[in-house]
Amino acid sequence: MTHNHHSPRRWLRRAGEARLEFGADYNPEQWPREVWDDDVRAMREAGVTIVSLAIFSWARIQPREGEYDFAWLDDAMDLLHANGIAVDLATATASPPPWLTTKHPEILPVNLQGETLWPGARQHWRPTSPVFREHALRLVRAIAGRYAEHPALVAWHVNNELGCHNVYDYSDDAARAFRGWLTDRYGTIDALNDAWGTAFWSQRYGAFDEILPPRLAASHPNPTQQLDFKRFSSDALKEHLRAERAVLAEITPDVPVTTNFMVMGEMKPMNYADWAAEVDFVSNDHYVLPGPQARDELSFSANLVGNIAGGAPWFLMEHSTSAVNWQPINVAKRPGELARDSLTHVAHGADAVCFFQWRQSKAGAEKYHSAMLPHAGTDSELFRSVAALGERLRELAPVAGAPRTRAQVGIVFDWESWWVAEQDSHPTDRLRYRREALDWYTALLNNGIRADVVPAGGDLTGYLVLVAPVLHVVPASLAARLEAFTGGGGHLITTYFSGVVDENDHIWLGGYPGPLRDLLGIRIEEFAPLLDDETAELDNGVTGTLWTDRVDVVAADVEVLARYKTGEQATRAAITRRPVGAGSAAYVSTRLGADGLTAILPSLLEPAGVTSELPADLRGRVELAIRGEHHFLINRTDEPVDLPGGHGILDPRGVRVIQNL
Ligand code: GAL
Repeated sequence: MTHNHHSPRRWLRRAGEARLEFGADYNPEQWPREVWDDDVRAMREAGVTIVSLAIFSWARIQPREGEYDFAWLDDAMDLLHANGIAVDLATATASPPPWLTTKHPEILPVNLQGETLWPGARQHWRPTSPVFREHALRLVRAIAGRYAEHPALVAWHVNNELGCHNVYDYSDDAARAFRGWLTDRYGTIDALNDAWGTAFWSQRYGAFDEILPPRLAASHPNPTQQLDFKRFSSDALKEHLRAERAVLAEITPDVPVTTNFMVMGEMKPMNYADWAAEVDFVSNDHYVLPGPQARDELSFSANLVGNIAGGAPWFLMEHSTSAVNWQPINVAKRPGELARDSLTHVAHGADAVCFFQWRQSKAGAEKYHSAMLPHAGTDSELFRSVAALGERLRELAPVAGAPRTRAQVGIVFDWESWWVAEQDSHPTDRLRYRREALDWYTALLNNGIRADVVPAGGDLTGYLVLVAPVLHVVPASLAARLEAFTGGGGHLITTYFSGVVDENDHIWLGGYPGPLRDLLGIRIEEFAPLLDDETAELDNGVTGTLWTDRVDVVAADVEVLARYKTGEQATRAAITRRPVGAGSAAYVSTRLGADGLTAILPSLLEPAGVTSELPADLRGRVELAIRGEHHFLINRTDEPVDLPGGHGILDPRGVRVIQNL
C-alpha cells in the first residue's frame, strides 16, 4: 500500500512575482572560467531564471578527505546571483570521488550476479553503506553551512535521481539492512515465514540472520522475498533522502528541499507515491522514448507526477531540448516538439521547465546529449527555439501557482501492482503493467476525455469513473475503498489479473478476482493467457491479445457487454458490468490495446455520464488539460487543427493556452 501524506508543500525561497521557472543543470566545472561569463550572458538572453548547480561536483568540492575547495563554487554562485539567476543547489553526493572509493571500496554496489559495480561512471554507491552515508552527510553539512546565507540559494537538490543506477544492491550491507527492515516489518520470524509462504520448497527460516537479498538463484526466488526486497530497496533510498534532508533542515530550515524523481517509461523501482511526502515540492525528470505513444506517455507521466504532488505545482527538473545519448538510436526533436513537450508538463502542473543541461558537454559520456546551448553555439536553431520557449513561459506567468483541475475519470496507478504483476513464474511474462495503464489513457484521450492518473494510496473519491487496469495487488483495505467508491455511486472499471493477490502476494482463494468477485458478480476458475500469435475476437468487433479469462457470470444482475466470438473462450463473457446502486463495476477480461479500448470506452463511460469537455471536432486530435482558469489545448497530431471560437489554427504539435474554453 502506498500512502499520500499530503504534506504541506513549499515552493522556492524567493521574492517577487510568481513565474514559471526556466533553466537547466549547470556544470561550470566542465569549462574554463572565461566560458562562464558567456554562459550567464546567454542564460539571460534565453530567459533562464534558475539552474541546478554542483550535482556531480563532489570530486571538485572535496579533492581529498578533509579538504574542501569552495572558491570556484562561491564564484559560480556569486556570478549567477549577480545576473539574477537563482540556484537549486545540489548536495553533490550523487557520485563519490575516486579517493573515497579507493579508500573504501566497500561502498561499491554489488549486482544480482555478485559482481562489483566499479567506479568510472557515476552513482557507484550502496544505498545502505554506513561508510558512504557518513561521508555523504559530512559533505552535505559542509555545503549547507557554506551557502546557508547565500542569496542565490532558493532550494536544495538532494543527491540526484536517487536509484537511477544503484537501487538494487545485493551486497552484505544490503543484506544487513534488509534483515533490519524485515525485523521491523514482521517482528517475529514466524510472521515472516507466514508472509513469505516458506513452507514451499523447504525455505523455512529459523532466524532473521539466515535471510539474504534475492541474489542470483537456481530457480525462481521466493516471490514475497522479491516483493519485500523491492519495497526495502525503495525505502533504503528514501532513507538516504531523509538523512540528507535532516542535515539540511537543521542548518537551513527555511530552504525547501527536493530531489528529482524519474516518473517516466519503465522506470519502476522507486515508489514515488510513497516518497512524495518527504520533499517540500515534487520534482521530476522526464525523457521521451520514441514510439507511437511517446507523446501520450509524456502526458501520462506528467499527469501522474501532478497527482503524486497532490495537485500542487511541481518542478520539471530535467528533460531534453532535443536528442539524448542513452538510447540505441537518439533522434532529434522535430519542430514544435521542444515547446510542446515542455508545455505539456506545465499543463499538468509543472511550474518550472528545466533541462539537462545548460551547455552541451565537449567531453564525457554525455557529449552527444542535447542541451539548451548546443555545440553549435547561440547562433543555432536550437538556441533560438530555447529562447522562444523562455519568452513563451514569461507570457504564461499567470499560470504559476494554479492547481490542476480534477478530471471526471481517474486511472488508478499502483507501484506494488506494477512490481508484482511483472514478477516471474506467472501465467504470462508478456504482461506490462504500465503499458496497459497507458493504453487506457490513450483511449481516453482519443475520446476527448480528460483523466487523472492517481496513485492507489491517494484520494480516489469524487471521480465519476475509476479505471483500475491490472490492479493486481488488492489488500482488503483497498478492496473496501473500491467498494465504498461504487457504493457511493462511482463507476469502477477493472481488468484481467486484477484482485488476484493480497499484500503478501498470496492468492485470494475461492475463484478470481478474490476480493472483487462479489462486486463484479463474476468468478474465474482459470486464467487463459494467449500465445504471442493468438488472438480472441469479441462480438463487439474488438480483438483481445495476451490474456483471456474463463469468466463465469455469477450474479443475476450482471450485464454482459461483449462475449468472446473466437478462441477457447468463445461464447463466454468477455466484458461485463454489474450495477451497484447508482454506480457500477465493470470487468474487461482481455488486453484490447489502445485501439480496442478507444472503441469500447463510450459504452463503458455512458452510464457514468462522463462527457468530453472538448467540442466534437477536437476530440482525439487535441488533449485538454486544465489548471484553474487556464485551459491547455495540446495538438496530439502532426496536422494543423482549426480551433473554434475565433482561436485560430493550432499548429502541428502546437499548444494554446486560453482562459476558460
Ligand atoms: C539523467 C541525469 C542527468 C543526465 C540525464 C541525461 O538521468 O540526472 O545527469 O545524465 O539523465 O539524459
